[in-house]
Amino acid sequence: MPSIDPVTRDLWHVIAATDEIPVGQVETTLLLDTRIALTRDDTGNPVVWLRTNEEQGDEIDPETILDRLPAITGYGYIWTSLGSPPAELFPIPEYAEPDRVNMSCGSIGIHVSAPRAVENFLDMGHFPYVHTDILGAEPHTEVKEYDVEVSEERDEVLATRCRFFQPRAALSATEGMEVEYVYRVPHPFCSVLYKSSPEAPDRRDVIAIFLQPMTEERCRAHLLQSMIDSTSTITDLRRFQQTIFGQDKPILENQYPKRLPLDPRAETPIRADKSAIAYRRWLSQKGITYGVIPMAS
Ligand SMILES: [Fe+2]
Repeated sequence: MPSIDPVTRDLWHVIAATDEIPVGQVETTLLLDTRIALTRDDTGNPVVWLRTNEEQGDEIDPETILDRLPAITGYGYIWTSLGSPPAELFPIPEYAEPDRVNMSCGSIGIHVSAPRAVENFLDMGHFPYVHTDILGAEPHTEVKEYDVEVSEERDEVLATRCRFFQPRAALSATEGMEVEYVYRVPHPFCSVLYKSSPEAPDRRDVIAIFLQPMTEERCRAHLLQSMIDSTSTITDLRRFQQTIFGQDKPILENQYPKRLPLDPRAETPIRADKSAIAYRRWLSQKGITYGVIPMAS
């Protein structure tokens, strides 16, 4: 059993889409090499505990579960912790805007570490090759200069002024456009992306990826979309995002090593990797060792 560093132990970790957990029925999953079980009580609130002999689909009276792990709901998902988590999740203020369409877009198992999946999410360089004719197309392969900072105050990595030409930036896009991205990494295993909305040029669609670290080399990606789109159906918006992520999955699973090396010399840096370098350094400074190959000291 690998050791779980104290920072990772105390984080909130996503484990399931709230809607998908029936009241009084057991769901089982794996978090940080630990078998856990969850359900929802009569009021819909999540109940999470260390799994013993419960099986998926068992009926259970949540009132009988006394030894519970911390649980919270946020952004359409249930989160838990194996340690002492903060009072609240990281903020995504846009989620509360009344005219947005918020949706979970599925939970996808990937045979790679959670930090590798975050890093892929930050990388614009792969758009023309992996998401051909949707998020990128040749000859528009250049990743233009952008800014990266680590905000001390908010304790997050922030990449701004990221611009990329996209043939079909969103389901609502009718033509190719240069899209501006802002990336936040407000949690070691979660990233939030803001991109120009084709429907409302002065506002931004929000797409977030929340990774559930199951083991050091396996995770589940839980996707959130918070869109400004008055015409598409939720089914179509979900399908669009699932198509994109289905293209990423095989690329991610081919990454070697599956844990993320934090030594900046481990993989050749190019300009597109500026946000990746900041992310790796941030993980290193935090003392994260789960799902990464720490820097040799
Ligand atoms: Fe991708």
